Amino acid sequence: MPDHLLIQAAKGETTQRVPIWIMRQAGRILPPYLKIRRSVKSFRHLVKNPELACEVTLQPVDILKVDAAIIFSDILVIPEAMNLPYELIEKKGPYFERTIQSPEDLSLLKTVTDLSEIGYTIEAIKLVKNELNNRVPLIGFAGCPWTIFAYMTEGSGSKTFSKAKRLLYQHPQMAHQLLQSITDSTIFYLKAQIAAGADIVQIFDSHAGMLSKQTFNAFSLPYIRQICAAITEVPVITFAKGAWFSLKELNELDCEVIGLDWTINPDYARQYISNKSLQGNLDPCQLYGKPKDIQKATQQMLSSFGGQSHIANLGHGVYPDTPLDNVKCFVETVQAWESTNVVVEES
Ligand code: CP3
Repeated sequence: MPDHLLIQAAKGETTQRVPIWIMRQAGRILPPYLKIRRSVKSFRHLVKNPELACEVTLQPVDILKVDAAIIFSDILVIPEAMNLPYELIEKKGPYFERTIQSPEDLSLLKTVTDLSEIGYTIEAIKLVKNELNNRVPLIGFAGCPWTIFAYMTEGSGSKTFSKAKRLLYQHPQMAHQLLQSITDSTIFYLKAQIAAGADIVQIFDSHAGMLSKQTFNAFSLPYIRQICAAITEVPVITFAKGAWFSLKELNELDCEVIGLDWTINPDYARQYISNKSLQGNLDPCQLYGKPKDIQKATQQMLSSFGGQSHIANLGHGVYPDTPLDNVKCFVETVQAWESTNVVVEES
């Protein structure tokens, strides 16, 4: 059985056309998701119910016809498994009642070394694999240690992340200790996802761009590097949003794909990322535009990536108020582009 398009593109193999999936494709842009979401007590209930998580994972494959599924879960399951439970507050986002503020607080936490706290996502992956029946590959995921550290210390999202960053400067040793524990937990979690059937994994450093080049290279990159080195079973996509300043360092990771946000031009990235595939990077707000303009911008984006070693995506997650037809227009434009534009070399 040949690899799916997405896996071929991740490995840098020649593809018939550019594959596409969309960050945050499962969720609030899809009416059947909203129906299920309203029927459960909380977001966490949905994440923790393997049958429902399976159902919402499959929705974007059926409705949007994307080239991959991504398991329905959240990056915050790792803090919870480490003993910092979260809640999702409507219209506000994640909230942690307890947070890590000082070296003493580390005694609250445990490193994840067994499936007891994360078994629900592993169960959901097995169900999805079975239901997908190899139609498209399944993406597993986790947050990168710095981004998880940021939630564990801030207790919520933030404009400045100054509580999280304060710890990097005041208690660097403690910060490294916590980042290492998150890293070990994340490697365990990703390996369990892969053993259950994930065909590729993406690690999200959503808050990389809050750091300077020096702090990113000191407090985020070494842990991303450990994760990339540990995951040898399937391709890895590293998405460090806002880390334009460390593209050269990202090129040295032992991973197959680098995700780009919309602020980085593909030809700029290619000066630094020499032998990896790239993913991205349409501005999610472009999908508020007219279909004609979405098509044009998408085609321009595809051309600038060059048609090979590219996985099409947005430059960050799709926003909840994006018109569904515009999301479909984006997917269809990518999938129609091959026949007229990409010359596949005969081998
Ligand atoms: O479709 C998919 O991408 C799979 C599922 C997925 C979710 N969260 C479901 C979700 C994935 C991959 C994530 C990753 C995630 N979660 C990230 C990294 C990606 C990024 O956007 O930078 C981050 C930072 C989080 C933390 C998080 N979870 C936030 C900040 C929020 C609230 C704001 C928001 O984006 O909705 C969540 C909740 C969340 N995670 C929802 C979904 C579908 C919305 C829940 C709802 O209201 O129904």
